[in-house]
Amino acid sequence: MLEEIKNAVIEASRIMLEAKDSKIDTLSKEGHANFVTEYDSRMQKELFGRLAKILPEATFMGEEDNASNSFTDKGYLFVIDPIDGTTNFIRQNHTSCISVGLLKEGECVLGVVYNPYKNELFCAEKGRGAYLNGCPIRVSDEPLPNSILLFGTSPYYEELAEPAFDIAYHYFRKCLDLRRSGSAAIDLCDVACGRADLYFELRLSPWDYAAGSLIIKEAGGYILGCGLTPLQFRQPQSVIAYGKGITKEDLAYFAEKSL
Ligand code: IPD
Ligand code: CA
Ligand code: CA
Repeated sequence: MLEEIKNAVIEASRIMLEAKDSKIDTLSKEGHANFVTEYDSRMQKELFGRLAKILPEATFMGEEDNASNSFTDKGYLFVIDPIDGTTNFIRQNHTSCISVGLLKEGECVLGVVYNPYKNELFCAEKGRGAYLNGCPIRVSDEPLPNSILLFGTSPYYEELAEPAFDIAYHYFRKCLDLRRSGSAAIDLCDVACGRADLYFELRLSPWDYAAGSLIIKEAGGYILGCGLTPLQFRQPQSVIAYGKGITKEDLAYFAEKSL
């Protein structure tokens, strides 16, 4: 089934690649700087259609078109972000991806994250390891002083700017340097393959992290929610993901400040 899902994602990505910036009309969604394009919606429809053929008994949760409240921990549930990194997509920054997680009885058992611009496909199946374009990947074992930190600004929630930058500043003083990509799913995969060592964001939605959470875990890393609790897929939450060199003490500041 993984191969079929990978192919469905690659096929759907053609819609994204067709877009040229002069043609991308944007609409505003709820929250600060939250945009949506016709492509987000078209991509979601395309993915739902293709994936339903692969696993007809599955239900769907997706960011667009009011498909966001359909969490269930019964049976199979696809949790999909049709374009993660929409602001990058609008600006043709090429740091955007499709993120498809498959939950079984509420647990993520399969994840695919594909950035068609770089032709990078990350995937994982529970118990079978994580891969980038078919090659096994592992998280790093860099300790915090040698680490590259990724963080998300939770841009749609203005009230989170201050605590997010406070946490980022705290870690910035302890690590090598800090990056902000604009795609949570790509950030998670970058930690999974050791390009970075720690990632946090104060509010993400399940479709941002479902697939990436399994890819991180299968690559030997860790991912936790608010206050370092186990991740859930029911509603938005804080997320922190990290490699093997990050210690419990390193996480204390995030644990204290995460909301
Ligand atoms: C956003 C991106 C961004 C993250 C936001 C997400 P979207 O997703 O992943 O990096 O900081 O929290 O909502 O809206 O581009 O799908
Ligand atoms: Ca997203
Ligand atoms: Ca999205």
